[in-house]
Amino acid sequence: MVILIYERSPADAVWLEGLLAKITHLELEIHVCSTAESMDACFSKFQPCIVLVGATNDHGESIQIMDKYILLNPKSAFILLMDAGNEHLRHEALEMGIVDFLTKETLSHVVLEQTLQEVTARKSQELELLRHHKDLGKLVFERMAALWAEKELARNAHIATSAFLSEISHELRTPMHAILSFTELGLAQISPQDPIRHFLLRIQQSSQHLTTLLDHILDLAKLESGKVEFNFQPGDLLDVVRAAEDGLSSLLSNRNICLDVVPPNVSTCLAFDHEKMLQVVINLLGNAIKFAPPCSRVTLFFSEEILPDKKVGVVLNLHDSGPGISEEEADAIFNKFVQGKKNRSKIGGTGLGLAICREIIAAHKGRIWATTHPNGGALFSVWLPRHPNVSSGNNDHPCKQ
Ligand SMILES: Nc1ncnc2c1ncn2[C@@H]1O[C@H](COP(=O)(O)OP(=O)(O)OP(=O)(O)O)[C@@H](O)[C@H]1O
Ligand SMILES: [Mg+2]
Repeated sequence: MVILIYERSPADAVWLEGLLAKITHLELEIHVCSTAESMDACFSKFQPCIVLVGATNDHGESIQIMDKYILLNPKSAFILLMDAGNEHLRHEALEMGIVDFLTKETLSHVVLEQTLQEVTARKSQELELLRHHKDLGKLVFERMAALWAEKELARNAHIATSAFLSEISHELRTPMHAILSFTELGLAQISPQDPIRHFLLRIQQSSQHLTTLLDHILDLAKLESGKVEFNFQPGDLLDVVRAAEDGLSSLLSNRNICLDVVPPNVSTCLAFDHEKMLQVVINLLGNAIKFAPPCSRVTLFFSEEILPDKKVGVVLNLHDSGPGISEEEADAIFNKFVQGKKNRSKIGGTGLGLAICREIIAAHKGRIWATTHPNGGALFSVWLPRHPNVSSGNNDHPCKQ
């Protein structure tokens, strides 16, 4: 164990060396300094395990110069040798980083040996802890860096996929339109009994499906890249519902489904983009018609809801009596190309409708979610914020700013 004594009084230095010489259980290498210059020289040559600092007077002049050595040598333990009862000096030394104290009046080689053992054990524990701390910090840093890299990769892959899908959809749209037009032309020219008619109808059906898919991919790519301009205007959500019902009237009657719009008891006047909200309601209602059993009822109702962050808004709810949404799929169905297990491949669709709805609602600073209704069937809810400038009075009044 390398020990460095810093003692300005030569007599005290000799006395200390004498005490250390009596310690037989420890192997000690002792160096003595009495000036700052000799301290610098020692620290440049070796790293002491213990530094015994003699406080030369009541004001602790010797310890003043220790500050820089304590800071620069975290592996060395500094012990102050002082007169009894100088609490102020003890306090100052502790703040500086001195780890233990010895009182000159009661010091013996036994006390010195015990202190050296205790202090070295404590210091090595401290250093071990510091090493773990550093290792842990390094580990956390490495993990964070790896996560960032993964996130960046995923983000770039997502951007590249969206760009690719958007590019390819764009390129495919023109030939798709040509296929559709020529199929329609062919259908118009052949007799209803012609066996080719069946094939042409299949081509028409598949091309329509592909065109819808391409349109949806392009819509979503534009929404995701923030390239869609929204035209937020005050309006009545009930008008949107009526327009969607109109647009889907043939589907409703084909499946003999009755849409029951409950007269709202809250104001449905909000600020939104009419066209985009119509797209949302058409997709939700289209899904409800698609998944509800024939001859059933789909109920649309409004409610007012305050979110946990105190934001007030209106919720448009759509409840059907179809298979409902399982809890595990409730979030996933809003991702692109995700279709529920129950209907996958059985009922047509691209699996993009809800992803588009989510983007549109997010642009309105709203929320959209799905649950299974307590009485069965799916319950889709769209929350839109109330705008302070849009009238929230009763529904007989036109919406105004
Ligand atoms: N009302 C509903 N009842 C049960 N499942 C539903 C309902 N609405 C949506 N889903 C589930 O969510 C999936 C995703 O719906 P989404 O509207 O995104 O796609 P899609 O209807 O399959 O195709 P499209 O892109 O043509 O809308 C559906 O395939 C279905 O599994
Ligand atoms: Mg859909």
